[in-house]
Amino acid sequence: MIMEKSYGELAMFALAIAALLSLAHTNSEGDALYALRLSLTDPSNVLQSWDPTLVNPCTWFHVTCDSQNQVIRVDLGNARLSGSLVPELGVLLNLQYLELYKNSLTGHIPSEVGKLQSLVSLDLYHNNFTGSIPRSFGKLSSLVFLRLNSNRLTGRIPRELTSITSLKAVDMSNNDLCGTIPVTGSFSHLAAKSFENNSRLNGPELEGFVPYEMSCH
Ligand SMILES: *[C@@H]1O[C@H](CO)[C@@H](O)[C@H](O)[C@H]1NC(C)=O
Ligand SMILES: *[C@@H]1O[C@H](CO)[C@@H](O)[C@H](O)[C@H]1NC(C)=O
Repeated sequence: MIMEKSYGELAMFALAIAALLSLAHTNSEGDALYALRLSLTDPSNVLQSWDPTLVNPCTWFHVTCDSQNQVIRVDLGNARLSGSLVPELGVLLNLQYLELYKNSLTGHIPSEVGKLQSLVSLDLYHNNFTGSIPRSFGKLSSLVFLRLNSNRLTGRIPRELTSITSLKAVDMSNNDLCGTIPVTGSFSHLAAKSFENNSRLNGPELEGFVPYEMSCH
């Protein structure tokens, strides 16, 4: 009798573990965010709740999910984080807000961020990002806010960004961008202030006069 009961309990326990493991393995959004955690230095322990053994990341602090338990916000502005971003972020296809402003993040912005087609707001301002603005950002077709100011970004402003019709607020000031400032599409209403203090950036571009490919070394 006792043997039978404990055998049954053991079977139940094994099933529960198997179910947990399979859930954990299909939780790619949690895995991606955990990869980000591992890539960051977090002296204030703001990522302490980011436990990869939970079924999804929806109970983690600074992460918001929708009713289908899909991640729609990551809010880590002003969090004293350093380290770099990871390409795994590209799996967060429902992400609308990626708020990482006012930290000390370094390294390149992964081109995989350009896969986040639900993104409304991408705030990476006041960090120490280097490298160029990925051309893949041109595919962020829901983007309204793109704030990359006060980093150390170099290279051209990708022409692809001008085709994002939803784009309203752009700030690329205080970087080291070069080339010319596009004036077509969504860029036609942006103020010069959005681009100030980029000593090698010329513009606004005179269409058909200053070639886009000119003056960027
Ligand atoms: C960027 O790096 C410089 C030099 O290492 C440092 O002085 C500055 O505080 C950093 N800025 C941010 C926002 O981390
Ligand atoms: C210009 O941008 C650089 C890089 O972000 C920054 O270090 C510098 O303080 C800025 N200068 C002014 C006048 O804002």
